[in-house]
Amino acid sequence: MTTAGIDAVEIRTGNLKLDLAETFAPVKDEDPAKYTKGLGLHASSFPDAYEDIVTMGANAAKRLMDRKGLTPEDIGRIDVATESAFDHSKPVSTYIAGCLEDVFEDDFHHANKGERKFACLAGTQAIDDAVNWVTSGKNRGRAALVIATDTALYERGDSGEATQGAGAVAMLIDEDPDLTVVEPLQGFGSADETDFLKPNQQFPSVDGKRSMQVYLARMREALRDLEEQRDLHPDDFAVVPFHIPFPGMVRKGAALGYRHISRGTDVEDALAEEIGPQPRPDDFEDDEAFRDALSEYTDDLTETDRYQEWYDLTVEPTLGISRYVGNWYTGSVHLARAAALRDARENGRDLDEQQMLVCSYGSGAQAEVHIETVQPGWEEEIAQLNVEEQLRERYDLSFTEYEQIHDVHNYDESTDIDAFTTPEEEFVFDGWGRMGERKYTYVE
Ligand code: COA
Repeated sequence: MTTAGIDAVEIRTGNLKLDLAETFAPVKDEDPAKYTKGLGLHASSFPDAYEDIVTMGANAAKRLMDRKGLTPEDIGRIDVATESAFDHSKPVSTYIAGCLEDVFEDDFHHANKGERKFACLAGTQAIDDAVNWVTSGKNRGRAALVIATDTALYERGDSGEATQGAGAVAMLIDEDPDLTVVEPLQGFGSADETDFLKPNQQFPSVDGKRSMQVYLARMREALRDLEEQRDLHPDDFAVVPFHIPFPGMVRKGAALGYRHISRGTDVEDALAEEIGPQPRPDDFEDDEAFRDALSEYTDDLTETDRYQEWYDLTVEPTLGISRYVGNWYTGSVHLARAAALRDARENGRDLDEQQMLVCSYGSGAQAEVHIETVQPGWEEEIAQLNVEEQLRERYDLSFTEYEQIHDVHNYDESTDIDAFTTPEEEFVFDGWGRMGERKYTYVE
């Protein structure tokens, strides 16, 4: 059977930065440690006045295509995952394809384009679709572009304000990929939930605390679903990337995941000497007593050397980019994968043929877990990322400038300000067309 997966990845951040400890915390009269330690975030990325989900996605895709020597004829499918779309009918992929056609010689007229929506999960779903398309043979030798692009803005003053972010991750899905093969097994945890939604509104309605519980509940279900298909053991996975709304959420998700997949294994037995066996529902009179015991066990678990070593090796490296850019919604779990590979390369860790357990989540709500196998070409491919350079070059906003740029991107405001940065060799928003469409141009 044909194997397919992620052949290449590119990351594009918004060109502006809000420092949470230095700039945000003092105005909010909060201890900076709430953000840096509690949420685990140091900064957020924002789009400048000339940037949006299309420019960030197109800029990531262009760099990817240039680097891989691709032309539009090599691409048979473009799927954009986003929860920041500005058009209820025309998919963002058509805007991005239009941008790319301005700089490449041929066109994407025979490529199937679409837009995927399921909150932050949609990027993973688009990869799944693209992998199925490639392995089915419908691709006719061509590859798919999956672009996860979002401007994750909240209402000012909302509890989610500190977790904002903006950026795009472009991925090439192809046969015999260089980065990872996406294995066929998946687990799902899905339920009709109202933890985070945008019913015909730009900024989300969020029940922050509840969304954290729903994230964990759906993730547990997804793991259980995967376990129905194969045994899971913590030592099976070299890297475990999670969806990262903020790194503190991953701390909770990782503890739940480890507890879950170590149950009934030699790891549980080894840990039992220190913290006892895992609580089982049958040992308790009611659900509440069981839950309390589970929560106490999880707290003890995260204090053990064994857990901490596992976390430091397999999860902590996945957070290395998100800590400095915030939540990129659909792109976040894909940033996590890239961050871990980048870290492994920098630290000389050999990941050839090692497995990843990729844990995605979208509010509304659905978790999906699947396995990927790292391919021998990963080091060379991941070395091409220029994300450090991009992060370094971001313009550092004052709080007043942050408020201005938030207004610029707010559909209900008509703020017009000069951009903070000067675009160079990139796609930019260039005003409105006669049918209300957004227009773009490439700046040399
Ligand atoms: N030093 C260290 N840690 C601190 C701290 C300090 N001075 N002050 C607070 N913290 C910790 C808190 O203990 C908490 O950690 P814990 O959950 O492990 O206990 C964390 O920082 C966040 O503090 P909290 O008071 O809960 O923050 P909040 O009420 O302002 O908002 C969210 C947190 C997640 C509810 C909010 O960011 C949100 O709504 N986000 C959007 C929705 C979202 O991302 N959901 C996730 C699932 S998709």
